[in-house]
Amino acid sequence: MEPSASVRFFDAQFERQLAAGELQLNPFEQAALPFLSGHVLDCGCGLGTLAVAAAQPGCTVLALDGSAAAIAHLRALAMARGLPITAKQADLRDHQPPPQAFDAVVSIGLLMFFACPDARRQLTRLQAAVRPGGVAVVNVLIEGTTYPDMFDPVQHCLFGRDELARAFAGWTLLHAAEQTFDAPRGLRKCFSTVIARRPP
Ligand SMILES: C[S@@+](CC[C@H](N)C(=O)[O-])C[C@H]1O[C@@H](n2cnc3c(N)ncnc32)[C@H](O)[C@@H]1O
Repeated sequence: MEPSASVRFFDAQFERQLAAGELQLNPFEQAALPFLSGHVLDCGCGLGTLAVAAAQPGCTVLALDGSAAAIAHLRALAMARGLPITAKQADLRDHQPPPQAFDAVVSIGLLMFFACPDARRQLTRLQAAVRPGGVAVVNVLIEGTTYPDMFDPVQHCLFGRDELARAFAGWTLLHAAEQTFDAPRGLRKCFSTVIARRPP
């Protein structure tokens, strides 16, 4: 797989985080964790902090990411701790998870790194991977974001402000939030997060 510019960006960031021992759940992962149970797909798992936190109390986790550094770290950690996590390196721009195979599907901070048609197709595929009655957790950057450093100049997508909520029409909304964080050089990152339950 030829890594995208964003995967190269995160590979370098993860090496720095590992060297500094920075392995805390971020605010989006903290919001997601109480909703995870059973068989979980974490698409764009990064260093796998959420995968580990979900596996410790009993979830089985399939954790996917394009970063070689992240997957190597998570595999080693899961093996050392005997956790039921399968970690695989994958290019998630065109990835088809099996339909209705998971109790929970998570994608935090991933889809905006794809060209918009790929991002929207992958969102539909992730939704389809949730079993009836199961839960989806999706977090993306939205319009208003001014921080470009982690983006491929061509392949990225800022979602519309209400786009996630509209994509989950017909699901039960368990959590919906819009949050803005400061980025370097006075820039900003605006996120939308939706946690929703698929109708039984
Ligand atoms: C902002 S990080 C989020 C990681 C984790 N979900 C978290 O919340 O900390 C974005 C992740 O998307 C991954 N990523 C970006 N583009 C990708 C691609 N085309 N295929 C697979 N993973 C990709 C990066 O390697 C990185 O781990």
